[in-house]
Amino acid sequence: MAKPKTQFVCQNCGTVHNRWAGKCDGCGEWNTIIEDDQMGGIGGGPGKMPKKGRAVALTTLSGETEEAPRIHTGISELDRATGGGFVRGSAVLVGGDPGIGKSTLLMQAAAALSRRGHRIIYVSGEEAVAQVRLRAQRLDAANTEVLLAAETNVEDILATIGDGKRPDLVIIDSIQTLWSDTADSAPGTVTQVRTGVQAMIRFAKQTGAAMVLVGHVTKEGQIAGPRVVEHMVDAVLYFEGDRGHHYRILRTVKNRFGPTDEIGVFEMSDKGLREVTNPSELFLGERNSKSPGAAVFAGMEGTRPVLVEVQALVAPTSLGTPRRAVVGWDSSRLSMILAVLEAHCGVKLGQHDVYLNVAGGYRITEPAADLAVASALVSSLAGLALPADCVYFGEISLSGAVRPVSQTAQRLKEAEKLGFAGAMLPATSAEVPKGANGRWATIEDLPDLVSRIAGSASRLRQTPEDD
Ligand code: TYD
Ligand code: MG
Repeated sequence: MAKPKTQFVCQNCGTVHNRWAGKCDGCGEWNTIIEDDQMGGIGGGPGKMPKKGRAVALTTLSGETEEAPRIHTGISELDRATGGGFVRGSAVLVGGDPGIGKSTLLMQAAAALSRRGHRIIYVSGEEAVAQVRLRAQRLDAANTEVLLAAETNVEDILATIGDGKRPDLVIIDSIQTLWSDTADSAPGTVTQVRTGVQAMIRFAKQTGAAMVLVGHVTKEGQIAGPRVVEHMVDAVLYFEGDRGHHYRILRTVKNRFGPTDEIGVFEMSDKGLREVTNPSELFLGERNSKSPGAAVFAGMEGTRPVLVEVQALVAPTSLGTPRRAVVGWDSSRLSMILAVLEAHCGVKLGQHDVYLNVAGGYRITEPAADLAVASALVSSLAGLALPADCVYFGEISLSGAVRPVSQTAQRLKEAEKLGFAGAMLPATSAEVPKGANGRWATIEDLPDLVSRIAGSASRLRQTPEDD
């Protein structure tokens, strides 16, 4: 038999290296590579010779499915993120920073499902039964039929959840605490996490129970992060948020049974997570519309419009190389907008520090935010506040043209609903609703935007009481 070879695996992204190195080539993280045995994990059995295969019965795509494939929690923000509820026989990974509220969310989901008559098992590997009970009391979930176990051994967990009536949903909190007798590396390593997760997925597929796996995102890389199992599960949700703010976003990253651009928005309160059905109101809550450098972006998250404020501060620099700092947006996208402003509008920012912030700790991924960002930058540089009741959206191309974006009508409808009477949007936008009360201004290109901002601001100055 071949001598087992040692390999070195990054605990953050799972990249395999032949020798140890300080930095992982795969993800760029430092000190995340550790020695691992080759035989554990997926693919390789524990050093056995390959056995002769057994033929399985082939079947067809059409056929009987036993029952409704989805189980709804009734927590609409969660159901939206999962694409309409948890799918029976599937595995969902819920990742996020420690302390963000994953256990809280899943305990609330467990309680809600249990009230709807489902059999739910919650396996906690991090907290003792007493701690989980305390949380359940706080969340008003203690009077439900959720079954609880504090266990970390994979074989024991499988024996427990496989015993008796089949559960509808099993929650494993967290995958990083799982350890199996069949893999001989330490708990928390890539091999152990993968082995554990694979066993749980197999259980889900065999029994038809839905499996929810919790994974901590780790910065230090001492324990394997959720990324090493993303490819194995059916859906990946990330629970994000800013510690300085109360709201949390459940973002779908991968979903084999639904759309991947949906979000669920929650607010953390002293009684657990509360659903936020109108996120725009939350993100615009603390707005001071009179100051220069703030523009409201009419964005979309999946099928839902979200209005959020983009703030820019442009100030003369005292450094040789001016600073560019971005929170909540892509920094290379900012560089591009700055370059386009300079090349096509003569707006010189080479001697200015530029700070860009998306209010409330929210993160924008859409290129449609370009126009709002450019407006905020121009407004801050000129020291002119933008009209308080105007929203901005549109993608900017390198030529300076403003390109149309999708779902114009929904964006405008949401803006109108929240009292924004004006909008600046791409000139070529289709589906602009006619006959509404809104003042929709269409923008051809970036120079057009700059002159309009200068124009609207000077009009404001003449009649400040109009505002
Ligand atoms: P938790 O769900 O334990 O986080 P995770 O499982 O992602 O590590 O939540 C931890 C934080 O949430 C903790 O700092 C306390 C806070 N919290 C509340 O503010 N209200 C509550 O009702 C609960 C249960 C927790
Ligand atoms: Mg937890």
